[in-house]
Order: sequence, then structure tokens, then C-alpha cells
Amino acid sequence: KVVAVIMVGGPTKGTRFRPLSFNTPKPLIPLAGQPMIHHPISACKKISNLAQIFLIGFYEEREFALYVSSITNELKIPVRYLKEDKPHGSAGALYYFRDRIMEEKPSHVFLLNCDVCCSFPLQGILDAHRRYGGIGTMLVIKVSAEAASQFGELIADPDTKELLHYTEKPETFVSDLINCGVYVFTSDIFNAIEEVYSQIRDTSSNYQSATRSVPADFVRLDQDILSPLAGKKQLYTYENKDFWEQIKTPGKSLKCSALYLSQFRETSPHILASGDGTNRKPTIIGDVYIHPSVKLHPTAKIGPNVSISANVRVGPGVRLISCIILDDVEIKENAVVINSIIGWKSSIGRWSRVQASGDYNDRLGITILGEAVTVEDEVAVIGSIVLQNKTLNVSVQDDIIL
Ligand code: GDD
Repeated sequence: KVVAVIMVGGPTKGTRFRPLSFNTPKPLIPLAGQPMIHHPISACKKISNLAQIFLIGFYEEREFALYVSSITNELKIPVRYLKEDKPHGSAGALYYFRDRIMEEKPSHVFLLNCDVCCSFPLQGILDAHRRYGGIGTMLVIKVSAEAASQFGELIADPDTKELLHYTEKPETFVSDLINCGVYVFTSDIFNAIEEVYSQIRDTSSNYQSATRSVPADFVRLDQDILSPLAGKKQLYTYENKDFWEQIKTPGKSLKCSALYLSQFRETSPHILASGDGTNRKPTIIGDVYIHPSVKLHPTAKIGPNVSISANVRVGPGVRLISCIILDDVEIKENAVVINSIIGWKSSIGRWSRVQASGDYNDRLGITILGEAVTVEDEVAVIGSIVLQNKTLNVSVQDDIIL
């Protein structure tokens, strides 16, 4: 048996996702029409002998209750949310719930960060881990040297794939091989974390304050576990050859939505919309997801990279390109939305324009409307972030509307 744990963090994390994360925990914000964590969860479903999936975080239980019960029914695999009383760090959180996680005596525990977007080659990681031995195997990927410093950088033996050296977000360049935030461990990981706790207890408080900038009961997987265990034949790496992105900003979520939509094109094309403007169906370009409850006018033109959630109404002549439209939004006739995320229950007026000012990799580039924002007729909202419940009756550009 194996189990999977997904670290979902909590409300003090994900602040870069405001204003969307005001009403919805970041892990539940939809990408390609499905909550962010739905993608790793459905990848877990494909592991043979998977017994349970745990979500560990410090959000209130009720914020996950609905999702957890619906996904449990849908996948027929128990998905449980376990709430920490406070953040314990990525390894500390795992340790905190060790009894629950080990209840069914799994041989292996997968650990996934909720905020990464990839094809999650979990069975491949597990098979490789069985060949390597040791405590754990982590998914790694090569990125550009400039990008690498935002992640854990590492050196692996090219032949044995052993993790030889690990540094979390180093100031000077170490390697273009980085940690993807996806791991498999044996139950020995709990001993390794226990070891760190006893070191913290045994050494004087001077040691604690001199070498650690975090509370004594906070244990980070990367700095406190991976770095010291590197080079000891305990940890191994599995290189990801497919797509991988980290999802720290809403701009990244547009990019990740596109990646998941193109994955659907390969794995489950029936989920994607089609239409060429005839038979009272709108024109669809490229990869587009449209929830079945959406009301679309046949003269609308949609795509590529668009996902539209439940109960959205799209009027005549509307043009949508590269955007995420959340539940219950209304887009009135001849409005245009490009490189933007439109929050729940918002309304976009006739002949209005909502778009990015620059490249959508740049946080301020894309436009994000929070929940229940009203853009009146003939108003342009460009490269701006608009907080919930605002009404815009004049055009804005490169602005934050509080
Ligand atoms: N439950 C819980 N409790 N979850 C937490 C806690 C905690 O105290 N702290 C962080 N997390 C969750 C976050 O929500 C996220 O899913 C994951 O753990 C990792 O978050 P961080 O520890 O803040 O690290 P990071 O995301 O900046 O970087 C990590 O992931 C990168 C890949 O995306 C590192 O492991 C990097 O080396 C790695 O490249």
C-alpha cells in the first residue's frame, strides 16, 4: 500500500494570490476548470495500491470540507483534510500527522507541494525509488540558470542519481537542476525528522537561534532534511522530462491553466470544447474548457487557453483569449477579455475591455478582478488588479484598485 500527502499551506501563505485568495484558499482556485489540487490528486489516483490521500494545511476545515467530500465520491479514494493548529513547516507538518499517515502501514508515502503544475510522473518516481533504495526520491528538473535561484538547487550523481548536494534558494549559483516539490519516501523519513527535533532539543538555545531562523517546532523539508541528508546514499533524484511550473502568482496560474489544457488535449480531449460558429455553437480556437452549465452566445469567439467555470453567461460578439473566468460571471455583448482572471460573480459591461498591459509572466501585467467586481459598459481595465465588490465606471491602467 502507498499513501499520498499534499501540502496545502494556509491563509498566511498565498498572499500573492490576492484578491482571489480572499474568498477561496489558493489550492482550490481553478486551473483548466479544476481546482489547483485536483490535478495532483487525479495523478495520485493512477498510482497502483493507493490507499488514501491526505491534504495537510492550516486553513479551517470547513474551507476544504465540500471539496474533500466531492472528490472522495468522484475518485472513490478517501481524501482527508488534516488541519494543523499552526504552521509546522513542510517536514514538521508531515511529522505532526505521522500516526494518521502510517495508520494503514503504507510501504511508501508520496509528498507533493500543492502549488506546482506538472504531469506528476508518480509511478515513475516510485519505480525508480525501488531501484535506488534509500529513504526517498525527489522529482528534479533542469531550468535556466537565471530561474534556478528561486528554487532548491541540487547536484546529483549522473550515474547513480544520488542527491550529492542540496541548497535551498542559494544566493550564488550552484546548479541548474532544481527541486520540483514532489517526493516519495519510506517510513524512515519520520525517523529523519525525529532526529532533527531531537538535535534541536539537545543543543542549547544558542544553537537554535544562531543556526535557525524559524521556531523550534518548525522543520523544513528542504533546509533541515534534504541538505543534511545529501551525499549519504539516502536520497535520490528522478529527472522530469515533461512540463513543470511553480504556481506562486495569478499570472503563473494562467500559464499553468494553458499547460493543463494542453495535457487534456493528449489525455482526455473530450473534456475540451469544440465549435466552428455553425449549428448555434460559438467559435472555439485551440484548447478551451467550458463547464456544461455555461450559457454561450453562438456569435462569441473563444480561445486559445480559456477556461470558463459554472453558470457563466457569455453574450453576443464576446471575444475571450487566454483567461480564467470563475463561477457566475456575466460577460455582456461585444466585451473583450485577454490575459486576465475574472473573479466569481463579476460582471463585464457591453463593449468593455479587460486585458493585460504586458507579458502575463509579470504579476502586474495581467488583469485580475476579485469577487463581484462590476465593470460598466465601455470601460477599459488594463494591467490592473481590482479588489472584490468594486464598481469601475472609468477606465484604469496599470493600477491597483483597493
Ligand atoms: N501544511 C503545511 N504547513 N504546509 C506548508 C507549510 C506548513 O507549515 N509550509 C509550507 N507548506 C506548503 C506550501 O503550501 C507548499 O505547497 C509547500 O509546502 C512548499 O512550500 P514552502 O516550504 O514555502 O517552499 P517553496 O514553495 O518556496 O519552495 C519549495 O518548493 C519548490 C518547488 O515548488 C522548495 O522545496 C523548493 O526547493 C522547491 O524548488
